[in-house]
Amino acid sequence: MSEAVLPRLTVIGTGYLGATHAVCMASLGYDVLGLDVDANKIKKLQSGEVPFFEPGLPELLAKTMESGRLRFTTSFEEAAAHGDVHFVCVGTPQQPGSDACDLSYVDAAIRGLAPYLTRRSLVVGKSTVPVGTAERLTGMLRELAPAGDEVELAWNPEFLREGFAVDDTLRPDRLVFGVASDWARDQLTASFQPILDLGTPIVVTDLATAELVKVAANSFLATKISYINAMAEVCEATGADVRDLAKALAYDDRIGGRFLQPGLGFGGGCLPKDIRAFAHRAEEIGVGQAVSFLREVDAINRRRRSRTIDLVRELLGGQLDGKRVACLGAAFKPNSDDIRDAPALDVARTMHGLGANVRVYDPAALDNARRAYPELRYGTSALDVAQDADVVVLLTEWAEFREVQPSALAAVVKHRRIVDGRHALDAEVWRAAGWEYRALGSP
Ligand code: UDX
Repeated sequence: MSEAVLPRLTVIGTGYLGATHAVCMASLGYDVLGLDVDANKIKKLQSGEVPFFEPGLPELLAKTMESGRLRFTTSFEEAAAHGDVHFVCVGTPQQPGSDACDLSYVDAAIRGLAPYLTRRSLVVGKSTVPVGTAERLTGMLRELAPAGDEVELAWNPEFLREGFAVDDTLRPDRLVFGVASDWARDQLTASFQPILDLGTPIVVTDLATAELVKVAANSFLATKISYINAMAEVCEATGADVRDLAKALAYDDRIGGRFLQPGLGFGGGCLPKDIRAFAHRAEEIGVGQAVSFLREVDAINRRRRSRTIDLVRELLGGQLDGKRVACLGAAFKPNSDDIRDAPALDVARTMHGLGANVRVYDPAALDNARRAYPELRYGTSALDVAQDADVVVLLTEWAEFREVQPSALAAVVKHRRIVDGRHALDAEVWRAAGWEYRALGSP
């Protein structure tokens, strides 16, 4: 495909999803303009700084900025003038005090952009939204855009995982194009040509199906995690070992071992709020029963957090108050600085609330954690927070925590007691080194 026919792209919202999408598309040869209403974020990106932790992204940002194909702005007018295809990548968090999805950022993006759309263009939603949103936004666009019916809406859900965002964007498992016309499909095809050329499978659907694919995928993953964690609860009551159980299940190709890792459960900016918003939306449209199991998936997930605290309390002889607790991990998963709905910090804060003297260390998420929870105490390394600890609790399975030597940790703690909230350590090795070792779902 020649450069001349490549559509010019804009990316509205430059968080984890949008910044990655903008940088990756520019790296593929597209002329990209990224927009955010947060002037600080735009300033950082313009100066070549990624405002969050994502391996590989800073290097790719530097390279694409040099190419001149990637610029940033806070002006919707400029974005409308630049783009043939506008990707909407803003956040859709959970509404405070409700399970519903907060669509105010999506609505604001459409309201900001539409009045400047004076020519034929395609607006593409990438954010995770309740089914039916695209239909509503189509009406909004047509009403507000001077170009009226010339402006179309499509939905192209994004499946990237934090920590692997660049690779997931450049080499996705599949592309889903939710479209209402052949023209929209052709525009999307032109916008992803280099990725399609890799042989990436593509599924073309209507708008509602494309919206649903994303929540259905995340619900499935959350269900799989909660399934093995429910088995952990059964193991706890019977003396069985969920680690071996998971291993045995994983050999069955039909089940597979991915997302079958038992432990403290899922968190982050997607899985928890997506299953809640899905259940909420399903209830709204009268099919709540079909996904009522998602409420249970959520409940199982939350119980893992309290069970982890129970294990700590048991190791401490029944009393958390006044005890020194070293927490390894704050991020919702390794290779991320994201603390949204992070199980690790939830556990740390609850133990702090119960009177424990909690110190937290995380290789990437400390700044975010400090800002959000200034009441907690933080340290500079695993060994630092473990000084004189009555118990160590591994909450996020960073590689550097897996590599900690039992003898090195033993040299600084007060008592050799460890709760492995992620099944990240070798129980036998730690027990052989004189540690009292406990893990969820294992004897
Ligand atoms: C997820 C989806 O994977 C991605 O496709 C979607 O676009 C956004 O939501 P992400 O939130 O980045 O991505 O994290 P993911 O790697 O999916 O992990 C989610 C959570 O599940 C983490 O808290 C992780 O610790 C937990 N998890 C994962 C488990 O507890 N057990 C597992 O076996 C796997």
